[in-house]
Amino acid sequence: MSEDEFLKARKIERGIVLDHVPANKSFLVLKILGIDEHFPGSITLLTNVPSTKFGLKDLIKIEGKEIGKGELEKLAILSPYITVNVVRDYKTVEKFRVSLPDVITDMSKCPNENCESNKTKSFKFFVEEREPVKLRCAYCNQVFKEKQLL
Ligand code: CTP
Ligand code: ZN
Repeated sequence: MSEDEFLKARKIERGIVLDHVPANKSFLVLKILGIDEHFPGSITLLTNVPSTKFGLKDLIKIEGKEIGKGELEKLAILSPYITVNVVRDYKTVEKFRVSLPDVITDMSKCPNENCESNKTKSFKFFVEEREPVKLRCAYCNQVFKEKQLL
């Protein structure tokens, strides 16, 4: 049974559906996507719903949202199992899992306050470990885990 039959969540016309979001992480996902009370589109949040593959999961539908490379990389730091569905005219036109490249440059800060990259605003992290994710800053050489990065 799909979550739509289970919870009768409305289909969206255009936007993105993020599936297999780790349970209770939708709030963090909205933060990653820069979505707050000013977002004009409709958002459907399902939290802690049963998943066939992972026990409990969250699922988020965001009407009118386009997703960019930097956002996808941050979602991949959260979980490599998040599935992105791109919806146009009520149809899923793209479906893919987020993926983490070996090098990440689309970050907005280094968790090390004293790192020079926070002054130059030019960031670069190497993926040191993938599960759980650990990134090494190319500038200060420190290693950070997900909780420090998102
Ligand atoms: N979806 C939506 N609005 C649409 C189309 C799809 O909200 N107009 C949602 C569905 O509810 C589902 C996800 O997007 O949560 C993927 O939908 P679909 O591509 O139709 O795949 P399904 O076979 O339903 O499910 P899945 O591939 O996730 O197993
Ligand atoms: Zn640094």
